[in-house]
This record gives sequence, structure tokens and C-alpha cells, in this order.
Amino acid sequence: MKPEDERYPFLMACRRRPAPYTPVWLMRQAGRYQKEYRALRKKYSFLEMCKTPELAAQVTLLPVEQLQVDAAIIFADILLPLEPMGIDFEFAKDEGPVFHQPIREMKQIDALRIIEPEEDMPFLMEAIRTVRRELDGKIPLIGFSGAPFTLASYVIEGGHSKNYILTKEMMYRERAAWHALMEKLADVLIRYLNSQIRAGAQALQMFDSWVGCLSPQDYEEYVLPYSKKVIDNVEKAVPLIHFATSSSTLLEGMKRAGGDVIGLDWRVDLREAWSRIGHDVAVQGNLDPVVLFGPVARIEKEVKRILERAEGQSGHVFNLGHGILPNTPVDNVIRLVDAVHEYSSR
Ligand code: CP3
Repeated sequence: MKPEDERYPFLMACRRRPAPYTPVWLMRQAGRYQKEYRALRKKYSFLEMCKTPELAAQVTLLPVEQLQVDAAIIFADILLPLEPMGIDFEFAKDEGPVFHQPIREMKQIDALRIIEPEEDMPFLMEAIRTVRRELDGKIPLIGFSGAPFTLASYVIEGGHSKNYILTKEMMYRERAAWHALMEKLADVLIRYLNSQIRAGAQALQMFDSWVGCLSPQDYEEYVLPYSKKVIDNVEKAVPLIHFATSSSTLLEGMKRAGGDVIGLDWRVDLREAWSRIGHDVAVQGNLDPVVLFGPVARIEKEVKRILERAEGQSGHVFNLGHGILPNTPVDNVIRLVDAVHEYSSR
């Protein structure tokens, strides 16, 4: 940890060091629940916004003033590095991502490129540098990526999936193809995350959003080695948050895969989860995003409850258990951040 990092409650908590209050940031803190975001989206597509550094920087900073969060997260998407690997996708209206040529065979995997993030995705590195300049040391900036499993599930299924049948089919029937794909994704993610650190990211989050569809045995055999490879090979200069949802049965495995902070969704009790994985790692979470729809008294009660479950121990970063949903009332989000600061002040 660099000496200047001690100024930031968020980085202190990631390193399990005492902080003056519990730091808070929110997954999807920039997005459709904000009218400023919706106004920009009338003019530009989501991918145009990601690929234009000035716009990505502007959107990254929207929640910083509005919410008074303790960290910013760069506006981008976990799917962006897939494009320079040679996997085309689009965001179809109201459908989420769609891949027109899903990955199903070894010869497609052989053809995937190992990317050079600085050359292939200069817009992201430029957005990170711009945000760092504009934040001017106010709060730290988080970079992020998907985890190998969650990215593999998108490229194999061709989009979002309910039962992950094609993904599991590749795991069980095409072992060589599965392992080759995970290996390539891991190699790309190592480069991608290290490039974000070089550009100025002060912490990282790896999203394994959909890994909760796996049994603990399958997680162990088919996923853990690759998540671990990514985490082991990312520079240790910045803390890494390892996040998944519906992951209550996988937490011990995720801890072994690594990360300075383990992200918890709302389906687990924070105190129980933390004692299961051990206090030699920090935790992040874990308010149900739907609580933000109100009423305010309920939000305040849940904040108090979660802070109590953390028992004032060093190493808790407050967050939602998953991203803010569209249509969430902004005033409730503002009150949430304020309540976390107010009730945790030491
Ligand atoms: O947290 C932040 O504020 C940073 C920005 C961010 C986005 N996506 C912006 C976004 C982050 C961290 C992500 C990560 C991401 N992207 C994940 C992992 C997080 C999670 O939710 O578990 C996943 C699975 C994706 C893939 C993705 N991107 C999907 C499935 C979708 C469509 C679903 C939807 O909500 O519309 C996106 C689009 C997306 N990424 C939007 C935003 C703000 C909405 C784009 C728009 O229509 O304006």
C-alpha cells in the first residue's frame, strides 16, 4: 500500500485497515436511474459512450458529486475486451448483449486473439487517465473486468442465459475446448487488468456475475484455476475485489481463488459469510438493490442492520449485493450513501 493511499477510507477498508467510517460505492452507480445518463443516451449508444473517453469520463463522474460515494468506477463494460479478441456483439434494444457467432468449437477458440489492451482499447486507458485527472485525488478510481467464467458463458450462449446448458455442455463434453477457452480468456484478462493499473486504476473488481449457476465441485474443477490465474498475475500494487452473485455455496472457493475483498450478494448474512471465509480477507456488500425502491425508513433500517453484522470490524466496504436497477429513485440512493456515512462514523 502506498502512503498516499492511507487518505482513502475505501483503500484502507480494502486492506483491512481501520477507516474513520465505512466507505461505500455502488455497482452501476452510473446508469439509467440517472436523468443525466438518460439524456446522454438519447444522443449516443451505450458502446459509443464507452468508446469516447470524454463521455465515459463524464458518466463516471456523474455519481461522484451527486452521491458522495467513496470510490468511482470507470464507465465501461465487461464485454469490451471480447471485440478485439475477434468476438463481435451488439447491444440489441431491450435484449442485452447478443453475439451473432457464439463460440462452440475448438477452431473458433484457436482463432481468438490475445489482445494488447493499450493498442486495442486506447479509449479505455484514455478514459481512466482523464478521470484520474478530473478527480484530482478526491477519491480513488476502480477499474474492472469480467471473470473468465462469466465471459465464457456470454460467448458460448450468445447472450444472457437462464440455465447455461450450452456452457455446461462444453464443460462436460468438450473438455479440451473448455479449458482452451478459459485459458485464453484468463490470459486476456491479466493483460487487460494490468493495463488498467498502468493507466491509473487504484483498485480492481473482477465480476463473476453468473458463476452462481455452478455446483461447488464444478466451480472447483472448471473455474477456480482460471480465476486464480488471473488474480495471481495481476499486479499486487492495487487491491482486487472478487465479486459474484448467487454465490453463497461458492464463497470458500472464491476466497481460495483470491482477492483482497470478497463481494457478497444479499442472499447471505454478512457476518456468517465473513466468518466462514475468514477475517484475513475484506468483504464488500451486501444490500438488496430492491430495498432502494423505498421506503426510506426501510433503507435506513437495512443500513443499520448490515453495519451491525459487520460489527465495526476493519475490512468492510459497503455496497449493494448487485447493481443499481433502472428506475431506482435517485434521492433514495443519495440517502443510502449518507446513511452509511452517518451510522458508521467512528
Ligand atoms: O458499475 C458501474 O457504474 C460501471 C459500469 C458498468 C457497466 N457494466 C455499465 C453498463 C459495469 C461495472 C458493468 C459490468 C457488467 N456488464 C456486468 C457485470 C456486472 C453485473 O451486473 O453483474 C455484466 C454482466 C455486463 C454485461 C452487460 N452490460 C449487460 C448484461 C448489459 C445489458 C443489461 C442492462 O442492464 O441493460 C450491459 C449494458 C450496460 N452496462 C449498461 C450500463 C450502464 C446499460 C446500457 C444502457 O442501455 O444504457
